[in-house]
Amino acid sequence: MTSGTMPGPARIIALGNEKGGSGKSTTAMHLIITLIQDGNRVAALDLDVRQATLTRYLENRAAYAEKTARPLVMPTLRPIGDGDSEALKAALAELSTDHDYIVVDCPGSDTALSRLAHEAADILITPLNDSFIDFDVLARVEPETLQIRRPSHYAEMVWEQRKRRAIAKRPPLDWIVMRNRLSTLDARNKAHVAAALDQLAKRIGFRLAPGFSERVIFRELFPSGLTLLDIGARTADAVDQPLTMSHVAARQEVRALAAALALPSAKRRGAASVGNA
Ligand SMILES: Nc1ncnc2c1ncn2[C@@H]1O[C@H](COP(=O)(O)OP(=O)(O)OP(=O)(O)O)[C@@H](O)[C@H]1O
Ligand SMILES: [Mg+2]
Repeated sequence: MTSGTMPGPARIIALGNEKGGSGKSTTAMHLIITLIQDGNRVAALDLDVRQATLTRYLENRAAYAEKTARPLVMPTLRPIGDGDSEALKAALAELSTDHDYIVVDCPGSDTALSRLAHEAADILITPLNDSFIDFDVLARVEPETLQIRRPSHYAEMVWEQRKRRAIAKRPPLDWIVMRNRLSTLDARNKAHVAAALDQLAKRIGFRLAPGFSERVIFRELFPSGLTLLDIGARTADAVDQPLTMSHVAARQEVRALAAALALPSAKRRGAASVGNA
C-alpha cells in the first residue's frame, strides 16, 4: 500500500468485553474490512490465543480469495503469543508507524494482554448482547426497580486503565458500548436495557453507538471469511451470494457503527487492493 493519509501513529481500536460471545470478533472483522474499504491501512491483533476467532476468520478469507481468485482486502495480521505482553507492546509500536488503525480483538476474559490492550486503546468498543445477563458485566442492577447499584468488575477495570492513561498524559479513552443481536420481537426487554444503558452511560462514562440486529448472516459468513461489506459485489466469477433486503439492512448497521466512531476518514476510498500486509 502507498503512504498514509493521517499523520502520526495509528489509532488503536480495542474490542473488549469480559463476557464471552457478545460479538467482539464479528464486530472487529466488520470494522476492519470497512476501514480498509475506506482506504485506511489497517492492522489486526487477535489476543484470543485460545479461540483465535479473528485469526481463523482471516485465514478463511485468504483461502476463499485464493480459491475463487477474487481480490479481497486483508489487514496486516500479527500473531501474539499467549500472555506475551512484550510481543503486544512491540507489535503496537511497530504497526503504529505505517498503519492508520490497529484493531485489537480481546478475549472474553480478564487477561494481562486484554488489560494492556485496554490501556493502549484510543477507542474501546464493547459489544453487549441485548439482555440483563450481559448488562451485568457493566453494572449490578436492583432486580425490582432496575436501578443501578454499582459498576461491575469490567467497568472498574476500564476505569483503572483510564487512570493509567491520564497519569501517562494520553488523551482520554473514547468508550463506546454497542448493543448486539437486537431482536425485533422483544420490545419490552429492549426498552428496559436501553433505559438502563442510558443511565449507566452517564455514570461510568461511555457513549452508545447503534448496534447490530440478530441476523443469521453474521453466523454464515465465517467459513468464507467474507463480511457484509464483501457480499453482493459484482464479481467476474459470480460466486457471490445475492444481496437480500436483510443483508442491505445489516450492512447499513455496520456502516452506522463505523460512522458513530467519528473517525477521520481516509480519502482513498476504492484505492485499497488485495492485502496491505
Ligand atoms: N448480530 C448477530 N446476529 C447473529 N449472530 C451473531 C451476531 N453477532 C454475533 N453473532 C454470533 O454470535 C457468536 C459469538 O460472536 P463472536 O465470536 O463475534 O463473539 P465474541 O465476543 O468474539 O466471543 P468470545 O468472547 O468467545 O471471543 C458467533 O457465532 C457469531 O456468529
Ligand atoms: Mg472473540
